[in-house]
Amino acid sequence: MVSFSSLVSAVSLFIACLAPSALADNPINPSFPYGSSKPWITPSLFDNTGNSAIVDEWTFGQLQNRNTALSVLQNHWNTWITEQDFIDIANAGLNHVRIPIGYWAFEVGPGEPYISGQLPYLQKAVGWARNHGIKVIVDLHGAPGSQNGFDNSGHRVSFPQWHSNSTNVARTDAIIKQIASLFINDQDVVSVIAPLNEHVHFHPCCEAFR
Ligand SMILES: *[C@@H]1O[C@H](CO)[C@@H](O)[C@H](O)[C@H]1NC(C)=O
Repeated sequence: MVSFSSLVSAVSLFIACLAPSALADNPINPSFPYGSSKPWITPSLFDNTGNSAIVDEWTFGQLQNRNTALSVLQNHWNTWITEQDFIDIANAGLNHVRIPIGYWAFEVGPGEPYISGQLPYLQKAVGWARNHGIKVIVDLHGAPGSQNGFDNSGHRVSFPQWHSNSTNVARTDAIIKQIASLFINDQDVVSVIAPLNEHVHFHPCCEAFR
């Protein structure tokens, strides 16, 4: 179905959501393959590098030629999701999509190998959503230091350091404000900002509580 650009392994998830009013007013077309497959979790972008150490966007930017990485990402952003996906979603009777985005679309700190360039695509997707009567949930899916250590936070790590590092929290706060101001005039479409996906509690000494 859909994936936008930056995360989850491949560059932003993109998840269609069903609101109760859709159920009441506009039944879901059973042919829509929602729940039957999760292509947005298919890490083809990473697998295609042929380097098994590339598992997330951090390593995607770190462990290969930067120009190659950038051009592969740009091709992905230009082709993975199109306006037709929004048409299909609307025709299926769905009325919201969640579009995840990584913090590195907004700023990249020193030593961080992330590649930016996602924002214009997010803005384009908001326009497509408007064209087809769909609302968008903009979801900050990866925060500095990683808020959960999952590949879909952008950086798979054993000991995520978002929560224990006040610089990371301050950066995140500033990014959430940037998201809010970016879409201040799009409130007819961007109905929700999800400030941080799946922040997970980690005990400082040892195992993650997941
Ligand atoms: C906190 O995170 C920042 C990146 O946001 C990093 O530069 C800094 O070294 C980290 N501080 C500690 C104590 O790990």
